Amino acid sequence: MKYTALVTGGAGFIGSHLVELLVKKKLKVIVIDNLSNSNISNIKKLIEKKKIIFIKKNILDKKINLSKYKIDYVFHLAALGSIIPSIDDPVKYITNNFNGTLNILEKLKKQKIKKFVYAASSSCYGLAKYPTSEKNPIDNQSPYAFSKWSSEELVKHWSKVYKMPYISIRIFNAYGPRFKTKGAYGSVIGVFLKQKLEKKLLTVVGDGTQGRDYIHVVDVANAFYLSAKSKIKSEIFNLGFGEITSINKIVNLLMPTKIINIPYRPGEPYKSKANISKIRRLLGWKPTISFEKGFNDLIANINYWKTAPLWNKSSINRVTKNWFKYLK
Ligand SMILES: NC(=O)c1ccc[n+]([C@@H]2O[C@H](COP(=O)([O-])OP(=O)(O)OC[C@H]3O[C@@H](n4cnc5c(N)ncnc54)[C@H](O)[C@@H]3O)[C@@H](O)[C@H]2O)c1
Repeated sequence: MKYTALVTGGAGFIGSHLVELLVKKKLKVIVIDNLSNSNISNIKKLIEKKKIIFIKKNILDKKINLSKYKIDYVFHLAALGSIIPSIDDPVKYITNNFNGTLNILEKLKKQKIKKFVYAASSSCYGLAKYPTSEKNPIDNQSPYAFSKWSSEELVKHWSKVYKMPYISIRIFNAYGPRFKTKGAYGSVIGVFLKQKLEKKLLTVVGDGTQGRDYIHVVDVANAFYLSAKSKIKSEIFNLGFGEITSINKIVNLLMPTKIINIPYRPGEPYKSKANISKIRRLLGWKPTISFEKGFNDLIANINYWKTAPLWNKSSINRVTKNWFKYLK
């Protein structure tokens, strides 16, 4: 029997990798994405080969009609995903992410969903102690973090009232092909690759000793797939590699290069590292791609970054100013 999966945000960075995996696993895949923050090129081949059904719609749209499909699995990834712009425009972020989740849940209420897998964010832990387990206290530090965490609560509540099995995956820092480059305060790997290609100075936040837990997007997609197929339900999982990679290490991998230090962002964790023992134990998932391997693959496919957009200096200054304004 061929199962049907709905992927919201399926044209995005993680979503497009997940869609590829689901097609490979022979599921019928329906993607909803309004392309507000992605490019159709991510899934164009799959659409042209009729491997997936693409619905270009806003998840806030009350007219979305999903009743004509019998959906088995839902992967809800559609969201606006940047911390600093969310401080500039909290209403936009909370409306899009929370109300969008509510609308999707409402549209699916009458369907017998086998599993609703939600793409949550490690940002809900704020300035957490690390390694961070699922038991760490919630400490949302931005409207983005709040919108993602409150949507997770919505999914949990829906699951309780409408008997919809769910898994929520709190992703740490995903990277890999099709990664975004936007923002000096965006995803540092993408920003660095783009800057390196353009022979610009690498913008190192603080002194570069801070670090993040980077997990390759292929491992992320696999965790979503396993979550859907597993009998485990009503669980939250942290998803990272379980190791810290410092900014200076990334700079070293890009040598020779020159750097410029830009202000450190108080309010953001200095280091983050996921405790991944729960997802290892319950789902049998484990990371398979080391940072060195994943990063070298990115460099090998560096052509993509030539065309990727990069914020200019004035927008870097603007987000920096706004960040400090917010902290006062
Ligand atoms: N990338 C990470 O490291 C990371 C970390 C934590 C959580 N997440 C979560 O994982 C999910 C996917 O992240 P990503 O990095 O692939 O982001 P992305 O921006 O590449 O993908 C999100 C997709 O959702 C779509 N979208 C946004 N709002 C929409 C709306 N109203 N209607 C329809 N489509 C809409 C965008 O066009 C985009 O294609 C997001 O929910 C994000 O919050 C990602």
